[in-house]
Amino acid sequence: MYKILTFNQIAVVGLERFPRDRFEIASEFASPDAILLRSHKLAAEEISPSVKAIGRAGAGTNNIPVGHCTERGIPVFNSPGANANAVKELVIAGLSLGSRGILPGIEYVKSLGDMQDGAELSKLLEKEKKRFKGNELSGKTLGIVGLGAIGSMIARAALDLGMSVIGYDPALSVDAAWRLPSSVQRMENISSLFARADYITLHLPVLDSTRGLVNADLLANCKPSACLLNFAREEIVDVAAVESALDSGKLRQFITDFPTPNLIARTGGDVILMPHIGASTDEAEDNCAVMASEQLVDFLENGNIRNS
Ligand code: MLT
Repeated sequence: MYKILTFNQIAVVGLERFPRDRFEIASEFASPDAILLRSHKLAAEEISPSVKAIGRAGAGTNNIPVGHCTERGIPVFNSPGANANAVKELVIAGLSLGSRGILPGIEYVKSLGDMQDGAELSKLLEKEKKRFKGNELSGKTLGIVGLGAIGSMIARAALDLGMSVIGYDPALSVDAAWRLPSSVQRMENISSLFARADYITLHLPVLDSTRGLVNADLLANCKPSACLLNFAREEIVDVAAVESALDSGKLRQFITDFPTPNLIARTGGDVILMPHIGASTDEAEDNCAVMASEQLVDFLENGNIRNS
């Protein structure tokens, strides 16, 4: 029997991919054959000598000591693309939050308490609602940094919204290039993308080359009306540089899926923080769990290494 050690709650539909007659799954095992996790930050010491493979029900592998695994010859399987649609949908919601007075409008309506008089309410709204006026996304330019599974889905959705799309990817694979709609204009470098875009969305993994990539120099190129979205990894953005760009009027808004400590207390609407929920849908959790589990089964039983 193969023993699969789980560190997080993994969607049942994924766990069902392990044939019960040949696999045992538990959150405690002395000598597991493989580890399956979602967001648990795995320490090297938690990988016992018996571990032959690690599966991550998610796209990023930054919560796994990949260097250590490589040295020990342990393959790490992630779930590329399995939650891309969920992230895309949240980014589109982020674009809407960045262009329309949705959040202040909702807060305003809440502040009306239990007002009962319909006529009085209409009169009040007529006077107040100009405060919540926004702009349309249609006709604006979206800059996508990172044109992999998520970036290319966002490109298609943004084109459907009537946006122009420009993109930059420092390591575009041939497959990803084929997936990209032909009307996406590829930029030579990230600075020219930052200079041209009204909205900029980041979809890169965290690597030595991307940590702190969005820094003061890059932000100095932005249109002052630009809105930056980070639904990728917190470490890609130099948050102090973002704060000072917002303070000095070099950037209009920052919307991120990371509840960054220094920014939580900031008021005034130029920052919107979400609690890392890009991949938090039933569908994405199912897809990721299925992909990671199938890869582990295929590796442990057949020795196959695949990434899909
Ligand atoms: C990912 O890497 O795909 C996300 O961080 C998934 C998650 O939220 O667990």
